[in-house]
Amino acid sequence: MRMALIGGTGLDELAWFAARKVNVVSSRFGSAEVIEGKIGGQPLFFLPRHGPSHSTPPGAINYRAQIAALRTLQVDAVIGVCATGSLTPDLPPGSFAVLADFIDMTRRRADTFFDQGPVVHTDFSQPYCPRVSDALRSGCKQAQARYESNGIYVGVEGPRYETPAEVRMYAATGAHVVGMTNVPEAILAKEAGLCYGAIAVVTNLATGLAAEHLRHDDVRASMVKSAEKLQEILSVALMQMPADRTCGCAVNSSLVI
Ligand code: HPA
Repeated sequence: MRMALIGGTGLDELAWFAARKVNVVSSRFGSAEVIEGKIGGQPLFFLPRHGPSHSTPPGAINYRAQIAALRTLQVDAVIGVCATGSLTPDLPPGSFAVLADFIDMTRRRADTFFDQGPVVHTDFSQPYCPRVSDALRSGCKQAQARYESNGIYVGVEGPRYETPAEVRMYAATGAHVVGMTNVPEAILAKEAGLCYGAIAVVTNLATGLAAEHLRHDDVRASMVKSAEKLQEILSVALMQMPADRTCGCAVNSSLVI
């Protein structure tokens, strides 16, 4: 199994990752930079979601080029890491959620590989790979992290944070976290037939649930604070990633990159 990690805020400088080579991978969707290296002796691709200098805002990321690049590199399984605001006091900053489902509230993103034919409608009854998700749950357990094991993620367009009324609406759906990067990444990964699981890092309580106003610098600082726990979770998860693809994620994709 060839594995990749997609990370954003706070994960860009992976101190624990021995980088070997930078691949600039082009496809008809554009190009993406994927770093090839090793983690604990195991080969791993790392894709810095916001670009190598963290300069691309969530709404401007070329998610299609990134997922296409992983397919071109013949990656089988992917873990996405994303910073999120919590919709419930039960998941305070510093906690995590292994994603099991999402609600797409994004508005302006290229969110499919199948926009020009052939006509393909992808089943999303199981949005995330169950086996990658199980590996992440093991990681959370072993790291003794506070976490939600069936997290529901609301993907928003940003770059602004939510209003208090939006947060009340999202919380009323039963969702746990809100963020700007997991959608359409999760959609495209599934369309591409990758085994994709995701872990949300709770960096803050969503608007209206905390007294303070929300600032990107605080979100970044909170992500850095969680980095050690996150690395523990990921190390375990990467060791426990599935050795085959019997989960069925691969069989549905008719995508030709
Ligand atoms: N809202 C949206 N995206 C986020 C948040 C938030 O509160 N925190 C980190 N990413």
